[in-house]
Order: sequence, then structure tokens, then C-alpha cells
Amino acid sequence: MAPKSALDWDIKEHTLIKEAILGKYLHIWFTALSKNYPSIFYIDGFAGSGILQDTSGNIKEGSPLIALEETFFAFEKHNNTNFYLFFIEKNKESSNILQNTLEQKFNSLKEKYNFEEMNEKIKFKVRNIEFDSLVKSLKVFLEQLPQNELKNLPLFVFIDPFGLNIKFEWIEFFLKNFKSEIFINFISSGIIRNKKKLSSEKIKEIFGEYIDLNQINDYALEFKNQIKKKFPDSKVLIFPIKNSKNSTVYKLIHISKHHKAVEKMKEIMFNESIFSNSFGFSVNKQSYKEQFFLFDIGEEVFENAIKEKYPLNEKIIVENIYNSFTRSDEFIWPKKKIREYLLSLEKKGKIRYIKDLDEKKKRRKNTLPDSSIIEIIK
Ligand SMILES: C[S@@+](CC[C@H](N)C(=O)[O-])C[C@H]1O[C@@H](n2cnc3c(N)ncnc32)[C@H](O)[C@@H]1O
Repeated sequence: MAPKSALDWDIKEHTLIKEAILGKYLHIWFTALSKNYPSIFYIDGFAGSGILQDTSGNIKEGSPLIALEETFFAFEKHNNTNFYLFFIEKNKESSNILQNTLEQKFNSLKEKYNFEEMNEKIKFKVRNIEFDSLVKSLKVFLEQLPQNELKNLPLFVFIDPFGLNIKFEWIEFFLKNFKSEIFINFISSGIIRNKKKLSSEKIKEIFGEYIDLNQINDYALEFKNQIKKKFPDSKVLIFPIKNSKNSTVYKLIHISKHHKAVEKMKEIMFNESIFSNSFGFSVNKQSYKEQFFLFDIGEEVFENAIKEKYPLNEKIIVENIYNSFTRSDEFIWPKKKIREYLLSLEKKGKIRYIKDLDEKKKRRKNTLPDSSIIEIIK
């Protein structure tokens, strides 16, 4: 439910998970991209006030401040690059607070990093408009450019609405016109709750075409399929976040076009999901009764998938297995998890280690280097 005023909403654990993942990913993204591009862009479409506050008064930084901090980190390494950040917030009060909070944060980061002369290399703009209006004006702007000079410039878009406010055409626009990566907080439970009330127009708006919601079990998966139908070279990862009652609270969706982006996002998701796959964020343990976790479909699914990919009793170089799983958007496992599953299948006698490509190399306990050769035996 939307809050009544800008500072009215409580930080829930699921907000902190999103922030942590976004921050870790942007840390890598800004640094990697600023190495090779003269300008990089970031848009937070539902930016909030920059301040998150729980009922006990604990304050945490919202996504805009996290993003700003990561540009400073990247700028220290690559100070020829321009960083442009756009924060869109429809609530007037929130956008005013955000403007002030960002200015303060900017000054304190300048001090922290000791950047005296930055020559406006890091620029941010807060706009008090609806995200949809931004997309519309960007469209008009691009139509006026004879060639889209921005097409090859990297852009990261974060879409974090409270409910069902998502339009397929936004995704299409960004994927078509920029070198974009998009991170979405997809509240599929909102669709489930409102299934009967959703007009066919609204369904079209979300999925790009009308679909019969009664025929669909997994709305995020349907959303992914629609994206892949129009953009076959895109990689769409869906990370289901569940609560202790095993119901899905929301799904984080990451859209990119590069296998490195896919691999990094998977690593971050799993690294943040500690304590046997639960997210371990608790500012104040008593106030967070719920433990959220990244839902992993598990070893049995891995076993079936590997048997589908590779025949029995055939030599396989482990690097090929790692790559084919970690680069695909069909599965969310990072390399660490694949290794864990392979070792477990070996213990169960389903996989046999044959040797290393380098025959002189001795295998250490509980390891499975890329150069290992294995076979599936049953
Ligand atoms: C979930 S909060 C954002 C939290 C923020 N991303 C963070 O992590 O700190 C959603 C924000 O979107 C704003 N909002 C709602 N509808 C919007 C729209 N159509 N366009 C832009 N902002 C909107 C709300 O006022 C609210 O501040």
C-alpha cells in the first residue's frame, strides 16, 4: 500500500534486501562501464525521498543515495567519465526532501573522496513528475535526433513502484534505444490480488499484449517471455523473494544483454542471501519477525537439467558446465552453487570425477576446478 506522506513508510526487510542488492550491483556496474564509456546514465524511476525510516526511528539510505555513492567510487577510478543520474519522484514532498538529501550527500561524498575539482563530472537531477511522463518526453527528444547518438551509451534503469505500476512499453523503449540494463521490483502478488479487477487495457499495459490471466501461473515468467519474444538477445533473470510462510513477496527482475551482467547479478543475489538462503538483514532484530529468502528451486532440478544437457558416461569439462549454467537466464545459480550441487551429486555416486585436464594437477578436497573432467554415471 502506498504511504500517506513522504516519511511515513516503514522500512521493511524486503526494502533493505533490494537496497543491498542494488548497491552491490551498481558498485560493479558503474566501475566497469565507466572504464570504457565517456558517459554513463542512471535513472531511478520511482526514487522516493532518499530516506527510509522505520517505526523506531532508524534511518537508512534509500536507492538514490546508494546510487550516488557508487558513482563517486567509480569516478575515483575513472575520472574522465561523465555520470548523469536522474531521479524521478511523483510526490512533491518526497522529491523536495530527495533534492536536499542528495545535495547533502553529494557534499559529504566530495569531502570523503577529497574531490575538489570535479568539473561537473557527476551530475544529478531530481524531477517531480511521473515516470511515464519522463519516458514520453525522452521519446519525443529522441525523435528529434537524426541518429540516436545515445544508443550505445550505457544506461541503468531502476523501476521500484509500490504496486502494479509497470508498463511494458517502458521496457521496450529502454531496450530499443539505449544500451540498457533494467532492474525491476515486480510485485506479482499485486497482480494475483487484483486479478479479477484488472481491465484488459491494464493487462496489455503490463504485459505488452492481452493475456488471459486465468491461464497463467507465473506472471513474472509471462513478463519475461514477452520481453524475450520481442528482444531475443536479452537475458531476463527472475529472483523470487519469499517470506517465512513460503509465499512470494515480490520478484526482482534483472534485464541485460551481457553474460557478465548475468553472472554478476547471480553472484550478488546468492551472496546477499546468507543463513541457508535467508536474507540476513536486520537493523533491529525484534522489529523484523519475518525472514525473507531467495527461493532456490534446488538440487533435484539441477540434476535433471544437467542430465538433459549432457549424455551419461561422456567426458565433460567442468568449465563448460559452469559457463552454460551461469550465463543462461533459465537458472539463477551462480558458479558457487553449481559447484556445490556437482560435489553433492558426486558424493551420491551420480557423478564421477575422472581427472584434471592438467594430469599433473592434484585435486584438493571439496574442489572442482574448471579444468576438471567428470562424467554423469547415473
Ligand atoms: C517503493 S518507493 C521507492 C523507494 C526507493 N526506490 C528506494 O529504494 O529508496 C516508490 C516511490 O515511487 C513514487 N511514485 C509512485 N508512483 C510514481 C510514478 N508514477 N512516477 C514516479 N514516482 C512515483 C512514490 O511516491 C514513492 O516515493
